[in-house]
Amino acid sequence: KVVPVILSGGTGSRLWPVSRASFPKQLWPLLTERSMLQDTVLRGIGSMFTDPIIVCNNDHRFLIAEQLREIGIEEAQILLEPIGRNSAPAIAAASLLVAEKNPNHTLWVMAADAVVTETQKLVDFVQEAAILAKKKKIITFGIQPTRPETGYGYIEKGNKIDHSRHGFEVKAFTEKPNLQMASQMIASGRYLWNSGMFVFMAETMLQEMQLHTPELLSSVKTAIDRRKTDLCFERIHLEDFIKVPDISIDYAIAEKTEHMAVIAADLTWSDIGSWDGLWDISNKDEQGNVSMGKVFLENTHNSYVRSEDVVTAVNGLDDVVVVVTGDAVLVTHRSKSQDVKKIVEKLLAAN
Ligand code: GDD
Ligand code: MG
Repeated sequence: KVVPVILSGGTGSRLWPVSRASFPKQLWPLLTERSMLQDTVLRGIGSMFTDPIIVCNNDHRFLIAEQLREIGIEEAQILLEPIGRNSAPAIAAASLLVAEKNPNHTLWVMAADAVVTETQKLVDFVQEAAILAKKKKIITFGIQPTRPETGYGYIEKGNKIDHSRHGFEVKAFTEKPNLQMASQMIASGRYLWNSGMFVFMAETMLQEMQLHTPELLSSVKTAIDRRKTDLCFERIHLEDFIKVPDISIDYAIAEKTEHMAVIAADLTWSDIGSWDGLWDISNKDEQGNVSMGKVFLENTHNSYVRSEDVVTAVNGLDDVVVVVTGDAVLVTHRSKSQDVKKIVEKLLAAN
């Protein structure tokens, strides 16, 4: 069986001002009537899977426990981080937890901020990946790229893996290239986007962490060993976890390990990391606009405009994002919506 592990620790700062540290994007119903977290958890249900592990921030424990109850998930393990240290420590913690039971168990790590509509197809790919995982591979799911997006990881596809239908070796993994590099990679046709999901045996990940990031692994291990368990919550120890370096799995492991493999997955996939990404996958009107709430548009094209309560009008602009909430307004060019993260960082530093 495969253990679904859902990472729900990000704050989604590029979707500010709707996404906030106290109520991040993955807990909002942005696209369906369920939150992205709920939709993600529901992908890992069925005879192939064990109960899920959710790795999240301590502050979100009740929100998340409640959202799980809403979709009828009673037996999840909720692994609580006292502080966000990015995805590598979160994955280390989950791998250690699973390895306590059996180091040969396979994990399916999912980001809580992606949209995949073809669930059955995805589960079939995961089944294929689980077979490769037994051969000590760390498998990611590669998506055919459509634009030189700089917010993703890029996977250079190598040779086909024997006896695997969609599995390929990975020549190189490049996390978040600059625009020039991303454009070259797209033009070459040899690259796939990293969908941010990984399948591997607990033991394989722990060995690779021991090799490429030993300090991170040993400090997470101490924090896990000293955790407190109460009800469905596993509370990671603060004083130990605070020493853990802040790094994503992509930089810490995917760029470095020689165990990567990729399933070329022809899935309709989307990361709703930025307003531009959300615009991309939403239904648009004839002018290419997505508008939600009390919004009026005049001579405006290819834009995303959202306002909960304040009447908001946009006139004579193209390719913009305008988001109005109770206490903040964002106006940005759509192509610059990755940089909203920088604004949030500055706002946090100023307060
Ligand atoms: N538990 C926990 N703790 N989860 C975290 C933390 C943390 O400190 N930080 C991030 N996460 C979770 C996020 O909630 C998200 O589900 C996932 O880890 C990925 O983090 P993001 O911050 O959203 O990463 P990204 O979108 O910039 O890049 C990743 O995803 C892309 C596809 O969506 C990379 O894996 C890219 O290579 C990939 O293309
Ligand atoms: Mg993301």
